[in-house]
Amino acid sequence: MQLPVLKIGNLVPKYPIIQGGMSIKVSTSSLAAAVARAGGIGVIGGTGITLEELKNEIQTARTTAGGGILGVNIMFAAHQFKDMVQTAINECIDVIFTGAGFSRDIFEMGKKGGVPIVPIVSSARAARLAERCGAAAVVAEGTEAGGHLGTDRSIKEILPEIKEAVKIPVVAAGGIVNGFDMAEMIKLGADGIQMATRFVLSEECSVADAYKQVYLNATEDDIVIVKSPVGMPGRAIRNKFSELMEKTAEPPKTKCNHCLKQCSHVYCITQALLQARNGNVDKGLVFAGKNVFKIKDILPVEKIFQNILSEYATS
Ligand SMILES: Cc1cc2nc3c(=O)[nH]c(=O)nc-3n(C[C@H](O)[C@H](O)[C@H](O)COP(=O)(O)O)c2cc1C
Repeated sequence: MQLPVLKIGNLVPKYPIIQGGMSIKVSTSSLAAAVARAGGIGVIGGTGITLEELKNEIQTARTTAGGGILGVNIMFAAHQFKDMVQTAINECIDVIFTGAGFSRDIFEMGKKGGVPIVPIVSSARAARLAERCGAAAVVAEGTEAGGHLGTDRSIKEILPEIKEAVKIPVVAAGGIVNGFDMAEMIKLGADGIQMATRFVLSEECSVADAYKQVYLNATEDDIVIVKSPVGMPGRAIRNKFSELMEKTAEPPKTKCNHCLKQCSHVYCITQALLQARNGNVDKGLVFAGKNVFKIKDILPVEKIFQNILSEYATS
């Protein structure tokens, strides 16, 4: 089966593979640049860092991306959402992905700055709204995804519905870890795929080794849904921190810097994710996709691409 051509505005990556944005310093410039170099779209997680850090991350990625396509992912739920979007536009980012809701304003900002906007949606209704607002494409994300979830339905159910609802390209996300999964999504009508969990287990992903070990050690039974103060459920790997929350014991209180527009303040999601990312895995949350247990190696991004493409070719 031939690879589809993914066209987002005027951007056409060599391969229709997007590395999903992972905030709180999981997908930083080193990973995004490696994916862009390999022929996909590399995405910097733009939430949980300062405007100055975002600016530096984009500039650093650009120097090593080999002319490849770079994006940022910015969560609508973040307090600094608009400033982040404007900073990314000022830094001449190629494309902006928005998760956890979107505002109509962002499409106007993207239009003015000449940057395509790609919302992450989990229903045909949201996809239609995104298209009407001016989205260049949508990422359809199913419940198999890591991080915050917008649905409890499988990507296999929602993808055909979303594909039918809109004319813009639809990128499938959630639980895709190899080229066989990719082929399945393309057969269901996807114009491209987005993968995040697979890329955490890459040499270029800058999380602590202990974080990658939690991924490698995870079994199917270790994947849990946790409550997040953002107001959405999140998919993570069971550990001491997630168990503490299941028992509804109070997780440790941390200083609040009001990073979210709305927060239940039950615990600090930014601190929990940062602790884990920095290697204090039992003191924080390890977000991961449902199929993390299927990945058993840490590889260079280039090799991950080669594997996906050869698996796809044999499907
Ligand atoms: C550690 C981690 C952090 C994530 N952070 C974000 C984020 O900040 N914003 C967002 O829109 N999606 C986020 N996601 C979702 C991914 O971008 C992606 O769409 C999803 O995980 C795809 O499923 P997969 O991980 O099974 O490939 C995150 C996922 C993971 C695993």
